[in-house]
Amino acid sequence: MARRHKIALIGAGNIGGELAAMAARHELGDVVLFDIPEKESLAKGKALDLEQMGSVLPYDAHITGTANWDDCAGADVVIVTAGVPRKPGMSRDDLLGINLKIIRNVADQVRSKCPNAFVIVISNPLDAMVYEMKKVTQFPRERVVGMAGVLDAARFQLFLARELGASVKDVRAMVLGGHGDTMVPVTSYCTCNGIPVRQLIAADKLNAIVERTRQGGGEIVKLMGTSAYYAPAAAAITMAEAYLHDDKRLLPAAAYLDGEYGFSDLYMGVPVIIGGKGVERIVTIELSAEERANLEKSAAAVKELLDASKKL
Ligand SMILES: NC(=O)c1ccc[n+]([C@@H]2O[C@H](COP(=O)([O-])OP(=O)(O)OC[C@H]3O[C@@H](n4cnc5c(N)ncnc54)[C@H](O)[C@@H]3O)[C@@H](O)[C@H]2O)c1
Repeated sequence: MARRHKIALIGAGNIGGELAAMAARHELGDVVLFDIPEKESLAKGKALDLEQMGSVLPYDAHITGTANWDDCAGADVVIVTAGVPRKPGMSRDDLLGINLKIIRNVADQVRSKCPNAFVIVISNPLDAMVYEMKKVTQFPRERVVGMAGVLDAARFQLFLARELGASVKDVRAMVLGGHGDTMVPVTSYCTCNGIPVRQLIAADKLNAIVERTRQGGGEIVKLMGTSAYYAPAAAAITMAEAYLHDDKRLLPAAAYLDGEYGFSDLYMGVPVIIGGKGVERIVTIELSAEERANLEKSAAAVKELLDASKKL
């Protein structure tokens, strides 16, 4: 018998609320918005508000706000935003100590309550958090993935589209590597409806766009005093949808590498296919010498972060 899917959102803050709204509007299934006991009424309030929105738009989703892990039991998809976001002047890595403790606790619960879930981690520093999630849950790598590349690529695509005076719908781009200042916007694969953007944008302008993309999260933190949440939520929902609908989308995402691109035992942004089996394939692409060198630098930064988290 067919049944409704269940999407558990761990963290009912800014991104959690947007995730719930999008999951409901896309009718992905029923939604559980989980937070710590001190934030339970906020989670319940957001859930009720969103259920009421459903009767206006309309959509039909049961949305539950809770601080009880039992309500998350048996979820098909778990999306984790639990933790603290950046404040102006902070790097993502500055969040390591505090968010690592949170992710360990969350992962423990996910392992016992949602043993078959596809898990998408958003909390920062992303590459260390998603690594820890896999380590604690011991889920196969197909079922634990980090969201960063879709968001970073979205920022890259927007800046390119604005420079081109073209629709953002026609610009496709990849951002690989760690989700930090060393991320690698891959200019050799950026196209505007199939036309390489390198033919359309001068090198100095392209370099400035690459730099703005690398600082894209910080730019928003400076403006708002906290991290972005609309685009991050949309990015994670795209990944969840690809899994639930077996869409087989080719997306950049933080995947566990076991020899691919010459790296092992770390999570980093690479192109993957997401479908009904989760991360069904890691796609290996050729990179220019410069892009390859940048990817190595990014992997070294991720390794450093992992070494630091292993000591905590
Ligand atoms: N991967 C990305 O591309 C990306 C993009 C933007 C933000 N982020 C990160 O996402 C995270 C969430 O951002 P936000 O803006 O939603 O923050 P937020 O502060 O609005 O929400 C985080 C929520 O997590 C909750 N929380 C804390 N400990 C918890 C626990 N043990 N169990 C359940 N919930 C818990 C908090 O109470 C809070 O409500 C941050 O770490 C931020 O840096 C990642």
